[in-house]
Amino acid sequence: MGREPFFSPRRPRRNRQNASLRALVQETHLTASDLIAPLFVHDGDGLRVPISSMPGVFRFNIKELVQECKTLFELGIPAVALFPSINPSLKDAHANEAFNPRGLIPRAVAAIKEQVAGLLVITDVALDPYTDHGHDGLVNPKNGEVLNDETVDVLAAMAVVLAESGADLVAPSDMMDGRVRAIRKALDQASYTSTGILAYSIKFASSYYGPFREAVGSQLSAGKYLDKKTYQLNPANRREALLEGALDEEEGADILMVKPAGPYLDIIRELRNQTCLPIAAYQVSGEYAQVCAAAEKGWLNLESTRDESLLAIKRAGADMILTYFARDVATALAQA
Ligand code: PBG
Repeated sequence: MGREPFFSPRRPRRNRQNASLRALVQETHLTASDLIAPLFVHDGDGLRVPISSMPGVFRFNIKELVQECKTLFELGIPAVALFPSINPSLKDAHANEAFNPRGLIPRAVAAIKEQVAGLLVITDVALDPYTDHGHDGLVNPKNGEVLNDETVDVLAAMAVVLAESGADLVAPSDMMDGRVRAIRKALDQASYTSTGILAYSIKFASSYYGPFREAVGSQLSAGKYLDKKTYQLNPANRREALLEGALDEEEGADILMVKPAGPYLDIIRELRNQTCLPIAAYQVSGEYAQVCAAAEKGWLNLESTRDESLLAIKRAGADMILTYFARDVATALAQA
């Protein structure tokens, strides 16, 4: 049976017919220099403590942390973001340990800056690893309210301690109102005008943070799972998300972050269209765990799913990505 002659002037498949053509027309590339590795630090003697819901991710002591940082920097990763898992006995309602200049994070930063020159160190500014209730801010014991202005004062003091220890960028992840301005002012007053602010501007109240909360030990508050909906964004809200981005820009942020990343690609793209600032996206613990779990079951291919998830975040408009896959991706890219 003869087929009718078929004419199609536009044949997008022509540009996909071999690997060289596909390489020429590829619009988005992922490189090691796009990646920021989140790292967990603890004060124990155990060298590396695994985190059960994040296969391949460990809590390091400072010595091991420095080793890991050397490897990452050699792989071309420009920055790490540190998160502390502190001894429960150091946690209290006021988060006093958060601004201890001899605390775990300041010691870790100093060790990295001394031994891995050139690697950027980003430190979180939020109280959750340091409060006994696990909230990012101070809590009014009478009614459980997370206090905004009182928390901002503490965060600003914490940011100065972190800058003093050598952090290149401080990253407020608490979602209190007005904290970027307060932190900028406190840093400038203490003469840390070069210390940058990577603001967790658009941080949703997400279920995808579960494994991270296990890692820093903040998942339960008085036996209940934490609810951060009075300060983190409603996943349903796009305009409110963009407002948060605009405010942090006005308040002096150097880089704006969207978090989580994969479920919020539309927000990354809209923010890209709204700001000239660089955009970071955080592929969070639950996004990582999802891919690992499906791969463990043999349901997804780990490497290709991982790479696709990151490329999609970049295509959406992110300039840099915090991801627990950073080391593995950079290793794979170095071997390619
Ligand atoms: C809190 C903070 C969280 C993450 C980074 N900083 C969790 C939370 O809000 O409870 C999550 C990161 C991840 O899930 O990988 N300051």
